[in-house]
Amino acid sequence: MPTKVNIVAISGSLRSKSYNTSLLRAMQEIADDTMSIDIARLNGIPIYDGDDEDATGVPQIVIDLVEKIRAADGVIISTPEYNFSIPGGLKNATDWISRVKDQPFGNKPVGVVGAAAGPLGTGRSQYQLRQNLVGLSALTMSKPEVFVGSAPTKFADDGSLADDETAKFLKIWLDAFEAWVRRGF
Ligand SMILES: Cc1cc2nc3c(=O)[nH]c(=O)nc-3n(C[C@H](O)[C@H](O)[C@H](O)COP(=O)(O)O)c2cc1C
Repeated sequence: MPTKVNIVAISGSLRSKSYNTSLLRAMQEIADDTMSIDIARLNGIPIYDGDDEDATGVPQIVIDLVEKIRAADGVIISTPEYNFSIPGGLKNATDWISRVKDQPFGNKPVGVVGAAAGPLGTGRSQYQLRQNLVGLSALTMSKPEVFVGSAPTKFADDGSLADDETAKFLKIWLDAFEAWVRRGF
């Protein structure tokens, strides 16, 4: 394993002021210099349609994401919660990714986190995403877990993390995730 682990962090939200993207940006700042985190967005991925796939194959925008996942030592996914579930855009992205040969999530260390306006902080959607990742043969870290509830009270208007307790816990989580990635499967 290299001295620095390279992580790709996927935000499950498309919106520019997303708390989930802000959570990943906070992780970039908090992580030790033994970990680099590159944030990937899902904007622009078309809705999966088997006819389109037959006609033109997996879209280049998905292939680009697949290559980032392949090149990374581990993946963090920050999921919002929409109606107690995974947002359609994130599920759609994993469906496209599942269509490439040599599944990029296969045996890849993955960490699931999330932020929501509600008090449960994506508990329900994270467990659905974990189930989805089983189908992709990912090696998802069980614990610790990150549920950032009441997100509007935890982030400042500029998107920076404004909650010391959350920052402290993110450091604990990142250390555990780095150990998970370095474990060598
Ligand atoms: C369609 C929709 C459904 C939502 N359902 C939930 C929900 O089930 N639980 C929850 O905590 N928040 C829910 N919310 C509020 C989101 O937590 C909030 O919009 C949050 O900011 C989304 O994440 P983002 O900031 O990363 O985009 C919902 C929002 C939308 C737009």
